[in-house]
Amino acid sequence: MTVSSAPGKVYLFGEHAVVYGEPAVPCAIERRATVTVDPRDDDVVRVVAEDLSLNGFAVEYSGSTDEHPDVDVPTPLVEAAMGYVDAAVDQARDAAGAPDAGFDITVESEIPLGAGLGSSAAVVVAGIDAATRALDVELSPREIADRAYQAEHEVQDGQASRADTFASAMGGAVRVEGDDCQPIDAPSLPFVVGFDGGSGDTGKLVAGVRALRDRYDFAAQTVETIGDIVREGEALLADADAEAGADPDEDLLEALGELMNFNHGLLEALGVSSRSLDSLVWAARSGDAYGAKLTGAGGGGCIVALDPTPETETALQYTPGCEDVFRAELATTGVRAED
Ligand code: PMV
Repeated sequence: MTVSSAPGKVYLFGEHAVVYGEPAVPCAIERRATVTVDPRDDDVVRVVAEDLSLNGFAVEYSGSTDEHPDVDVPTPLVEAAMGYVDAAVDQARDAAGAPDAGFDITVESEIPLGAGLGSSAAVVVAGIDAATRALDVELSPREIADRAYQAEHEVQDGQASRADTFASAMGGAVRVEGDDCQPIDAPSLPFVVGFDGGSGDTGKLVAGVRALRDRYDFAAQTVETIGDIVREGEALLADADAEAGADPDEDLLEALGELMNFNHGLLEALGVSSRSLDSLVWAARSGDAYGAKLTGAGGGGCIVALDPTPETETALQYTPGCEDVFRAELATTGVRAED
């Protein structure tokens, strides 16, 4: 039996714009997906995922869920998660040169599905690590990030950037610009996450931004301006020259918060926020957060705020439509073995 875990992430800056070659800075957070893999003697893949949905589910199939329309999966989101498990299995089989390898797989996750926290990337990254190790193949975190990106790319019809998978595999704060992905130094940023209980349709939201960008020069410029915000934010982090894990100073938090607010405003202008996300963002700001923005594709799901004090958490707890609020430490370790 091999067990691996990998973290989810928040976008400090740059979602959506990253799809068009602008840089983005996602940060891994201490909310993890854990995948347990047991090789089988046949080519069957059996997946049990207790907490990917409220009901939990268990399915057994060989090949892929696409070829097995009779496989009973409870919700579209869980169905999507199954697609990611399939793609992770394919990558592990390919890495090990074992196309017929079968597995019993258990997925456990602390990351809400489809809510902008990189749940699918964490499952794919942990799944590839556990399944390859089960087949006696040891991949580096960068190799896992690359295979996880291929897997996401396939499931999302070519719409995925490398951001989620790279952050999850490597941990810490990272910078992604096209195919160029690098870890960057960041202090221990005091992230607070608010969750509206919903999720967005990433494909539709990305298509909406693309249509605006094609239609209006000012929308294309908005995307480029998000890139400028990211470059500014990166420069702040580089100038702060903080050791990973050190407490950030107040000036840095103030400046990053201002950029997060700006970034959220531009995402709102591009049509990817929602009434509930905006209301959580404003609640966080009134709770004294240095800044707040949606994270991920938008449409519904999570916001991220910066606040070292408990005030933002309290403000969010009392905000109608806020289903969950939690503090999210920067995860300094990416994918790791848990066995
Ligand atoms: O919702 P998430 O966490 O999968 O983030 C989507 C981010 C986008 O920039 C909209 C798409 C992408 O693949 O980068």
